[in-house]
Parts: sequence; C-alpha cells; structure tokens
Amino acid sequence: MGRLDNKVAVITGAASGMGRATAIRFAAEGAAIVVADLNQEGGESTVRQCRENGARAVFQKTDVASEADVKAMIARAVSEFGRLDITYNNAGLVGALGPLEEVTVEEWDRTQAVLLRGVFLGIKHSIAPMRQAGGGSIISTASIAGMRGGFGPHPYSAAKAGVINLTQCAAVEFAKDRIRVNCICPGGIDTPIMGRRASESSGAEAQAHAQPLQRIGQPEDIANMALFLASDESEWITGTSMLVDGGFMARAHSFGRMTTATWANFKGYVGPSFEIKS
Ligand SMILES: NC(=O)c1ccc[n+]([C@@H]2O[C@H](COP(=O)([O-])OP(=O)(O)OC[C@H]3O[C@@H](n4cnc5c(N)ncnc54)[C@H](O)[C@@H]3O)[C@@H](O)[C@H]2O)c1
Repeated sequence: MGRLDNKVAVITGAASGMGRATAIRFAAEGAAIVVADLNQEGGESTVRQCRENGARAVFQKTDVASEADVKAMIARAVSEFGRLDITYNNAGLVGALGPLEEVTVEEWDRTQAVLLRGVFLGIKHSIAPMRQAGGGSIISTASIAGMRGGFGPHPYSAAKAGVINLTQCAAVEFAKDRIRVNCICPGGIDTPIMGRRASESSGAEAQAHAQPLQRIGQPEDIANMALFLASDESEWITGTSMLVDGGFMARAHSFGRMTTATWANFKGYVGPSFEIKS
C-alpha cells in the first residue's frame, strides 16, 4: 500500500532539484505524475525515473508564468489520468539581483511572474478538477527568504512572502471544498538553482554550518514534507508554511554572512538553472 495510491499529482519544476526528488518519491508511493517544467530534457529524465518506480508519469512542457500553459498542464492530468488530487507549485529561479534602486521593472516583473503569478495560476486552475474529485491538496514552495528580509535577493524574497500569504488566503477560501493549501519554506537546499550544486562550491563548509543540524538540506528533505502534505495523513492541516531548514530560522539572528548588503552586491538576472552556463 502506497501513501498516495490512486492519486494524481502535477508537479512544476520537476525536471530538477526538489521537484524531481518529489516526483520520484510520489511515484514510489503510488501516485500518477504530470512532470511539468520548461526543461524538456530534464523533465523526460524525471519521467523515466518515475516509471522505474512503477508509476505512470508524463512530461508536460510548461512555463508556469503562462496561463495557457498552466491550463494545459492541469488539463493533461485529467485527460491522461482522469482526475487531479495534488498540485505542487514548485518551479522557481533566482530572478532579479542587485540593489532595489537598480532592479529594472522588466526584471522585477519576470521574477514575480514565475515565482508568484505561477503559484496563483497553479492554484486557480487546480480548483475545478479538485472540487470534482471531492477535495485535494495544493502545495507550493515558498522559502525562508519569504519570512524575513535579507535571506535572498529582494524581488525573490518579496515573491516568496507573497506565496506564504496567498497560501493562507486560498486555504481559507477553499476549505469548504475540502481543498487544503499549504506551502513549504525550505532553508538552504543542495540543488542547481544557483548555477552549481552548493556541495561543490567553495562555501560548502559554511553552508553546512549555517543551521543547527549541521548539513546542507537535500531535495529529499523537501520531498518528505511534500509527501506528508500531499497524503491524507495531513488531512487537518491547511494554510500552513512548513519550515524545513535544519533549524536555521530557530537561530537566524546569528547568521551574519548572507546580509542584505551581500545580496545587493550581486548584479543581473538569473534564469532557470538549466540555462545557467557556469
Ligand atoms: N535550493 C534552495 O536552497 C531553495 C531554498 C528555498 C526555496 N527554494 C525554491 O525551491 C523551488 C525549487 O527549486 P530548486 O532549488 O529545486 O532548484 P532547481 O533549479 O533545481 O529546480 C527548479 C526547476 O524550476 C524550473 N523552472 C524555472 N522557471 C520555470 C518556469 N517559468 N516554468 C516552469 N519551470 C520553471 C527549472 O527548469 C528547474 O527544473 C523553487 O521555487 C525555489 O525558489 C530553493
């Protein structure tokens, strides 16, 4: 018996990092998966790994900032697998960097479009099929950066704060439909989002010591939380922001390295991890 037997899940950003780890975990627990991402090659590789776990899985090329794409992504779950039980809005990128006074409107808008509009669209288009299924679980990836200033680039952090609040609003609105809405706030997780895996970078030692549980987070740490929120084990939990951070926020006041000034020293715009050259 799997913890997600007979359930159908859509996972965005599932070509890489925590989205891929979650797709593989959900597959092992009996769910059918729509793997959604801009990155076709990575997405198809995730599909293969899900199928190796005995699951049904398909890739749907999706830009989460596009309403047409998100509609098609949700429609694919219903046309392929007959229903929708779980949506995990997880796709993300770093987006606009630098001091706020130098961030352009275009960079700001592109960052919000992926990180916040993408979550809004994922929630919006999941409601009708979940209502039809008698309920569902919507999960989004926010961040510790959405809880305080200075833990991420400012446009990124503002978007993640929006995800936390939108989660609460949607949880209240859709509780009557038995649709639960929660988000996960990861701490530092070893994924390609910054351009290279943190464990390979020169700051690996510092990354490990950044939290009381002295190792950097792994994508599987997030997959475990996503599995709990997706399953019926969390049936009385909605509107929450689940911290998965090795205790980072419990002593965040002592973490001096990633200050606001540090983030403001970076420049430019960082797109999806699979497009990062270095
Ligand atoms: N890694 C961390 O330390 C950390 C910490 C807190 C929150 N997060 C968040 O976790 C989520 C997953 O990131 P990750 O760390 O696994 O990074 P990742 O780069 O490994 O995965 C992100 C995925 O999102 C996809 N993506 C980017 N833009 C997209 C778009 N417009 N449409 C569809 N897919 C798109 C990428 O192609 C990639 O496959 C993101 O929302 C990120 O902001 C990461």
